[in-house]
Amino acid sequence: MADTVIDLRSDTVTRPTAGMREAMAVAEVGDDVYGEDPTVNALEAEVAALFGHETALFCPTGSMANQIALQLLVSPGNEVLCDADAHVVTYEIGAAAAYGGISSRTWPAAGADVDPGVVAGMIRPDGYWAVPTRAIAVEQTHNRGGGGVIPLDTLREVRRVADDAQVAMHCDGARIWHAHVADGVALATYGELFDTLSVCLSKGLGAPVGSLVVGSTDKIERARFIRKRMGGGMRQAGILAAAGRYALAHQVQRLADDHVRAARLAEAVAPFGVLATDVRTNLVPLDLTKAPLDAPAFAAAARTEGVLVSVLGPRTARLVTHLGVDDVAVSRAIDVLTRVLRT
Ligand SMILES: Cc1ncc(COP(=O)(O)O)c(C=O)c1O
Repeated sequence: MADTVIDLRSDTVTRPTAGMREAMAVAEVGDDVYGEDPTVNALEAEVAALFGHETALFCPTGSMANQIALQLLVSPGNEVLCDADAHVVTYEIGAAAAYGGISSRTWPAAGADVDPGVVAGMIRPDGYWAVPTRAIAVEQTHNRGGGGVIPLDTLREVRRVADDAQVAMHCDGARIWHAHVADGVALATYGELFDTLSVCLSKGLGAPVGSLVVGSTDKIERARFIRKRMGGGMRQAGILAAAGRYALAHQVQRLADDHVRAARLAEAVAPFGVLATDVRTNLVPLDLTKAPLDAPAFAAAARTEGVLVSVLGPRTARLVTHLGVDDVAVSRAIDVLTRVLRT
């Protein structure tokens, strides 16, 4: 393996920058289960304001934030509708059913191309004869959808569908910051479309830990209770919240650089016929069906030259740009990956 590793597996692999570590070191803290951590309180207020909601709750992970939100919106035995490839039903280990008694029903994987008509057709009304739909969950940006951005107009149409059926809407906004930077849509504009959002600080924003559930005061009061029940009540969490506050202040607009670098990677591999979708943000999904090697072989060959990529399936792989990948690293990665694809 090469001396310096270029890790393109995920934007979760980032390490805190020196400035972030400094902010963490000097953070004022208290016991957050008592509501007494001033840095956590400040972060929650800041994030709520960004999305135009009343309040927010700091959680250890995006999965916990999503699952708390789903439990807020869907009572046991009722259902949530979402994309077949949504993180909430793909990578959260059946939590909606296991913890919330929630039934999940999915529309065919569509990435960011959500079809409001399809969603409308799936809604089941209240009644004793079928599972009632209580919420629609969308993912912005869409992880398995190659970092695609759901257009604002589509989200507005889905909101109309939800309103007509009187069901709630949740946004898994782990990478909503990327959508905000890519499409120039204000976070508050996204915020007003959803009853709850979960947003992550530990993906593209580069904090080591942390996500928030955003919503109304009454919802977040109940969310605090559910978080504690799930074992997510943290004590002097201000050290972590300080990293999040630093990320919000310094590391949102720089996501545009990640998008440009992802586009460079995409452009370099496109002639090999391996680009799975258009690249809008920081994820570059690869479909190696027509490549001379499958995804594990591709990843293994790249690894021997110091470039790490994610294997998502036998013929699917993914490259991700983030805080730890600069222009020089992208040039080197292009060199390695195009050489591997040529073999
Ligand atoms: C779209 C999406 N939602 C939620 C999560 C969950 O975040 P965590 O790993 O913090 O549980 C991820 C993680 O990568 C994600 O990509």
